Amino acid sequence: MIVLRNVKKVYGTGKQALDGVTLGVPRGDFVFLVGGNGAGKSTLLKLLIRAETASSGVLIVAGHDLTQLPERRVPWFRQQIGIVFQDIRLFADKTIYENVAFSLQVSGAPRRGSTRDLVMEALELVGLTGDARRFPRQLSGGEQQRAAIARAIVRSPQILIADEPTANLPPDASWQIVQLLADINRRGVTTLVATHDRDVVNGLKRRVVELAGGHLVRDERHGAFGSSAAYQAVPAARTGAATVASVSGAFPVLSPVLVGAGA
Ligand SMILES: Nc1ncnc2c1ncn2[C@@H]1O[C@H](COP(=O)(O)OP(=O)(O)OP(=O)(O)O)[C@@H](O)[C@H]1O
Ligand SMILES: [Mg+2]
Repeated sequence: MIVLRNVKKVYGTGKQALDGVTLGVPRGDFVFLVGGNGAGKSTLLKLLIRAETASSGVLIVAGHDLTQLPERRVPWFRQQIGIVFQDIRLFADKTIYENVAFSLQVSGAPRRGSTRDLVMEALELVGLTGDARRFPRQLSGGEQQRAAIARAIVRSPQILIADEPTANLPPDASWQIVQLLADINRRGVTTLVATHDRDVVNGLKRRVVELAGGHLVRDERHGAFGSSAAYQAVPAARTGAATVASVSGAFPVLSPVLVGAGA
């Protein structure tokens, strides 16, 4: 569903934000993107939605070669992707229903079902059926983010991209949001989530891709938040699973990949 091969991104300032990133994300996968401030997470997600263009390399998203996609096709391409931001970005003067419906209106008539049915279906999925007539300010932060997720998925996107969707939320709301993303992923939507939220990553035990200084430094099937340095500190293949377990003891989740390598 997503292919990056040797992708580089150098901003106009000369800052190299991504350097030689190669990554494949099959249809239906769920990926946490982790890494410190400035590691390149948001840049990578921006490339995937063509909010930025790659400086070099191959970048294919949902069958579209983004290095070749003409500018005039970008809005059409972006309609196939659901996008969720840290700062939520709902229209303050529209109700929750109207915010979600707007997402359908800008993309033309829905391919299936009526606008009303699709909006209510999306609101039901995120647990906000009873809040359709409220305005964003009348909802908690977590509820607002759920509304933003409803807006992102109402067009049935193949891919859902979220950049730090839980950054401004308390832990229980964060956990609800991430459960919701996992739920959407189980319906077949390929999902990428950039996050600094250790508990969320460790709780879900999904694929973890780590960036550091624009390089991809870790890619684990059932990863923990961890840090690549912590994992690399003990060579798993030589020391065996018991040692790996003690190293990983710092994190609630043991990586089967590492245990497998050590056993
Ligand atoms: N528009 C831009 N112009 C110039 N440099 C940029 C731009 N956007 C990001 N950068 C730089 O590129 C690098 C990667 O930034 P990016 O926003 O991708 O990091 P990030 O991993 O998302 O960080 P954070 O965890 O703080 O959100 C940083 O050094 C950043 O300062
Ligand atoms: Mg970022």
